[in-house]
Order: sequence, then structure tokens, then C-alpha cells
Amino acid sequence: TFVVGEDCIKCKHTDCVEVCPVDCFYEGPNFLVIHPDECIDCALCEPECPIDAIFSEDELPEDQQVFLELNAELAEVWPCITEMKEAAPDAEQWAGKPNKLELLER
Ligand code: SF4
Ligand code: F3S
Repeated sequence: TFVVGEDCIKCKHTDCVEVCPVDCFYEGPNFLVIHPDECIDCALCEPECPIDAIFSEDELPEDQQVFLELNAELAEVWPCITEMKEAAPDAEQWAGKPNKLELLER
């Protein structure tokens, strides 16, 4: 499966959702997740993210392993998103900032 990682928090560019052939992105207030049981590993979304927030499960950095569980958990409760929308306000400023996990809104 593919996994949305920490960099997406407070950026949420949403380019990724447009290319997913199985519509398995789910949207929260300031983050998106991928449903691990629905993702078909096509890898189309990974290069679409302008800030490289998406990883294949195998390449998810060691310090972001918690995002495996978070994607699975939140994909069950958040609504599906299939169309691109405006990025989060101040997305540019938040790109690449560390310790954004504590800012994740549910
Ligand atoms: Fe969708 Fe393919 Fe990305 Fe999985 S890898 S979330 S199926 S675009
Ligand atoms: Fe997030 Fe990148 Fe998609 S910032 S919403 S994973 S395009």
C-alpha cells in the first residue's frame, strides 16, 4: 500500500486525489490518508504530491511508521475525496516543517 506521511499535515495540496484510479483517498481537516485495503499499489499518486508526502509502505521513513496506523484508522472515519481543491492556507510555509504530527486535526 501507499501511505500519506507527515509532510501532508497543514499543506494538503490534494493533487494526489485526482490520479487515484480507485478513489481511496480520505480527507480530514488538515491531512489526507490512503485506505490501505483499497490502494492497488499503482504508484500514480506518489509523484503527484508537490512536497513528496506520499511513500510506498516499504519506503516509509523509520520515524514515520506511526502513519501506517493513522492512514488505516482515519480512512475508516473520514469522507472520500476525489477532486482537487485549494491547498491549505500557508501550505508553502508548512512544507517540510518537523513535528507536524501534533498539529493533526481529526
Ligand atoms: Fe491510489 Fe494508486 Fe496512490 Fe494507491 S498508489 S493511493 S491506488 S493512486
Ligand atoms: Fe497531501 Fe501531497 Fe496529497 S500534500 S493532499 S499528499 S498532494
